[in-house]
Amino acid sequence: MSENKVKTIGVLSSGGDAPGMNAVIRSVVRTALSKGMKVIGFKQGYVGLMNLEYEELDLRSVSDIIQLGGTMLFTARCKEFNTPEGVKKAADNCKKLGIDGIVAIGGDGTFRGARDLSLAGIPCIGIPCTIDNDISSSDYTVGYDTALNTVCEMADKLRSTTQSHYRCSVIEVMGRHAGHIALEAGIAVGATCIIVEEVPHSIEDVIAKIESSRKLGKHHFIIMVSEGVGHSNEIAKKIEDATGIETRATILGHVQRGGAPTVRDRVVATRLGYHGVNLLEKGIGNRVVVTNKDEVIDYDILEALSMKKTIDMDLYEMAHEISI
Ligand code: F6P
Repeated sequence: MSENKVKTIGVLSSGGDAPGMNAVIRSVVRTALSKGMKVIGFKQGYVGLMNLEYEELDLRSVSDIIQLGGTMLFTARCKEFNTPEGVKKAADNCKKLGIDGIVAIGGDGTFRGARDLSLAGIPCIGIPCTIDNDISSSDYTVGYDTALNTVCEMADKLRSTTQSHYRCSVIEVMGRHAGHIALEAGIAVGATCIIVEEVPHSIEDVIAKIESSRKLGKHHFIIMVSEGVGHSNEIAKKIEDATGIETRATILGHVQRGGAPTVRDRVVATRLGYHGVNLLEKGIGNRVVVTNKDEVIDYDILEALSMKKTIDMDLYEMAHEISI
């Protein structure tokens, strides 16, 4: 154990939960404790910081959680925190508790909070955890792989009933305004069409694709639609009306956010949490810890928030070309 100035850190999870959040919490706690720090876990993200709802996390408090979905610290979106008064209250609370830094686990909203708190004098580290994989500064977000595998499992189940009936299934998946889940899961389940917000599409094109593959002997169809596009019931009706193929829409919903994290999510979560605490130990805050070509690096939060990311168009074009 090393002698250091950073004695106590806080950890919280905020925004939508994602499988692998617990693995980050565990990594943060174990890394900090091994460096002789004390760790405070705030409940329900910034809500717990505002209302002083917290518990001290010891070595055993994070036992048996690496394999669990959800977050042992609970999560929320906190309107009160998103005001200058709210940030001041949270910073004052940190000072009261002797907190030298915070690890904030979540998405862009969580990082905006972490940036505000850093500017108010509490060094914060953001760790990208969201099933959407929509954090521009990071190649990958914890929870994405688990969500993809869940979508894949559900779509495989839908495929058996779809093919028995010579039907078409329109499957709507999460992702807010990002089509990463729709694209990769669509490829993984062999979707006939993948409809995402990032690429202009028309229902006529979708219908034409279904018709052309029907002519080539295909009897059942999977159409993957991203949440940002939505309207999956309408899309299903239009397909049925135009083709005569019985079509059902399934909105997968929050099941995509649950379940045990995959190996990939557990390992990335552990690496990011470890890196984050190492930054705080050096007194470095206002950073987001990310992966870039499988390397763990960090960016200034403001810089990270200004970055742009879109879906992989090569993947999209490949999927379109081979789904005949
Ligand atoms: O960001 C994760 C996510 O599941 C998005 O895919 C979705 O748009 C949103 O959260 C749903 O949020 P809520 O759980 O508040 O309905």
